[in-house]
Amino acid sequence: PQPPLIAPSILSADFARLGEEVRAIDTAGADWIHIDVMDGHFVPNITIGPAVVKALRPHTTKPFDVHLMISPVDLYIQAFADAGADIITVHPEAGPHVHRTVQLIKSLGKKAGVVLNPATPAKMLDYLIDDVDLVLVMSVNPGFGGQSFISSQLRKIEAIAKMIEKSGRAIDLEVDGGIDTITAPQAVNAGANVLVAGTATFKGGPDRYAANIRELKGQ
Ligand code: DX5
Ligand code: ZN
Repeated sequence: PQPPLIAPSILSADFARLGEEVRAIDTAGADWIHIDVMDGHFVPNITIGPAVVKALRPHTTKPFDVHLMISPVDLYIQAFADAGADIITVHPEAGPHVHRTVQLIKSLGKKAGVVLNPATPAKMLDYLIDDVDLVLVMSVNPGFGGQSFISSQLRKIEAIAKMIEKSGRAIDLEVDGGIDTITAPQAVNAGANVLVAGTATFKGGPDRYAANIRELKGQ
C-alpha cells in the first residue's frame, strides 16, 4: 500500500503555543491538521471551540480535519465551517439524524465524514457510504490522547475498506487513537489511508516532529 497521510492531533500540542505548534507540524510534513472538539458531555473532556479553529486558520494552508465529539452537533456545524474547517466528522450517536447532518456539512461546501466508536459496527454505514467523503474509525474510546490501540478495530477497518471499494467512490479511510510505529502499518495493511497521531507526532518536542511523522509513514 501507499504511505498513509498523517494528521497530527493537536490535542497533544502545547496549548499555550498552539499557533506555533501548528506551523511546526506543517513544516514537519503533516498532511492534515486533526482538531479534536470535545464538549464534556458527549465525551468526558473539554477542548477546543470554533474561535480557536478560526485563530489557527492563518497559521497553515493544510486541511483542517475537525473531529466533532459534541452533542447536539447540528447547531455547531455552521460555526466550524465558517471558522475554516475543510473536513467535518461527526459521530452517529451525537444526534438523531446523522444522514441529515452529513447533508448539512456538504451543503456548506465541506467534506463530510462519519466516525465509528469502537463498539459501533461497520454496518451502520450501509445507508451512508454513498454520501460520505470519509470514514473515521476510532481505535480508542474518544475523549483523551495517549490511550492504547484496540486491535479488534483492524477487522472493522478491513470490512469498511471493502465497502468503500464496492462503492466505487474515493472515500478516505482514517484511523484515530493509539497510532504509533507498531500500529500504523497494521492500520495501513487493513486498508486505512489516513492516520491520526497525537502522542506519536508530538513526543520528544519540536526537533522530533519531522522524524516522528516520517516514521509513522514508514519512511
Ligand atoms: C481521542 C481523539 C484522538 C486523540 C489521539 O478522542 O479523537 O484524536 O487525540 O491521540 P493519540 O494519537 O495520542 O492516541
Ligand atoms: Zn480525533
